[in-house]
Amino acid sequence: MIGVGVIGYGYWGPNLVRNFADLLSVDLRWVCDLQTERLARLRSRYPAVSITEDIAQVFNDPKVDAVAIATPVSTHFDLAMRALKAGKSVFVEKPITATAEQAERLIEEADRRGLVVAVDHTFIHTGAVKKLREVIQSDLGEVYYYDSVRVNLGLFQHDVSVMWDLAVHDLSIMDYVLGARPRAVSATGMSHFAGSPENIAYLNLHFDCKLMAHVHVNWLAPVKVRRTLVGGSNKMVVYDDLEPSEKIKVYDRGVTLDPMAPKAGERKNQMRIGYRAGDMFAPQLDITEALGAELAEFIACVQRGTKPTADGAAGLRVVRILEAATASMAKGGTLVELPQERVFA
Ligand SMILES: NC(=O)c1ccc[n+]([C@@H]2O[C@H](COP(=O)([O-])OP(=O)(O)OC[C@H]3O[C@@H](n4cnc5c(N)ncnc54)[C@H](O)[C@@H]3O)[C@@H](O)[C@H]2O)c1
Repeated sequence: MIGVGVIGYGYWGPNLVRNFADLLSVDLRWVCDLQTERLARLRSRYPAVSITEDIAQVFNDPKVDAVAIATPVSTHFDLAMRALKAGKSVFVEKPITATAEQAERLIEEADRRGLVVAVDHTFIHTGAVKKLREVIQSDLGEVYYYDSVRVNLGLFQHDVSVMWDLAVHDLSIMDYVLGARPRAVSATGMSHFAGSPENIAYLNLHFDCKLMAHVHVNWLAPVKVRRTLVGGSNKMVVYDDLEPSEKIKVYDRGVTLDPMAPKAGERKNQMRIGYRAGDMFAPQLDITEALGAELAEFIACVQRGTKPTADGAAGLRVVRILEAATASMAKGGTLVELPQERVFA
C-alpha cells in the first residue's frame, strides 16, 4: 500500500481524492486545505481520511509515501519541494511550476532522493489522445500542421493567464503526440479587463522541419470549442473532445501537386492539382477515466521507482514553452528561441 496525502480541495482536488480513494493500492491518509468549510464536505464522504489545515501534519506522517498537490500554480513549487525534502514523491497539478527554473530544481531534488515527480497532464491519459498519437505516428505521413482551438466562457483565473491555464493542455498533448519538439515560439495575447491576466492568446510554435503548430485559447468565447486538426502528407485527423463518442476522425483526404511541363506561351511553374477525398474513419476509443489511469500509473511508479509518462521533464518542457511565449507576448509577438533541452538522469 502507498500512503497518500492530497493538498488542495478546491475545484480539482476532489477529483484526485475520488480517484485515489478508488485505488486498492492506496491508503488515502490525509486531505489538507486552508479553507475549513471545504474539508467539512469531505468528512461525511470519506470518514476514514484525516483532514487538516496544517500541511506539516501530512509531511510529518511517516506512512505518507506520496503527496498530490492541487493548489494554485504559484504555490506548486514550495509545496512540492517541501514534500520532496520530507521524502515524499509528488504528483503536481498542471502547470508543474510557475517557472522553468523551479521545475528543474524539483527534478534535481527528486532524482537526488530517488523519488518520483509526476505532473497532471490529464489529457495524455485519455483514449482519444492515445489514439491521436497512434494515428499521427502510423497513418499521417509527414506532419504538416497542428492546429488547436480551446475556447469557452471562463473560468477566469486570478493568478494565471488563459495561456498558463488552458494552453497547458494543448502543449502537453502536442508534447506527447508529435515526434518533434519546437525550436522557438511567438505569441500574442490581450487582457480586456484592467488588472487581470490575458484572457485570449494565440501561440505559434516553430520547428526545425516544415511542421507548423498553432494554439488558440480564449476565456471570452460565446461557445465552447475543443478541436484540434492535424494535417499530414497521407491523411488528416480531427480530434474534437466535445464529441460524445467519435472524438477522433481520420480523413483519407489530401492534395497532390505535380509540376506540369509548360507549353509554349504558358507561365512556368504551373501545377497539376489533384484532390483526394476518400473515406472518414472514426476508431473505437478506450473510455477509461483518464485521471484514474494516470493516478494508478503514478502509484505504480512510486512502488517501482520508475518514471511516469508525464514526468518532471515533460512538465518542464511545457513550462519552457509557456515562459518563452510570455516573453514573446511582452515583446509584441517576436520570435523567442527555446533553451536547449537538458538531459536529466
Ligand atoms: N488537470 C486538470 O484538468 C485541471 C483542471 C482544473 C484545475 N487544475 C489545476 O489544479 C490546481 C488547482 O486548481 P483549482 O481550480 O482546483 O483551484 P481552486 O482555487 O478551486 O482550489 C485550490 C485549493 O487549494 C487550497 N490551497 C491554497 N493554498 C494552499 C496551501 N498552501 N495549503 C493547503 N491548501 C491550499 C485553497 O484553499 C483551495 O481550496 C491548479 O494548478 C490548476 O491548474 C487542473
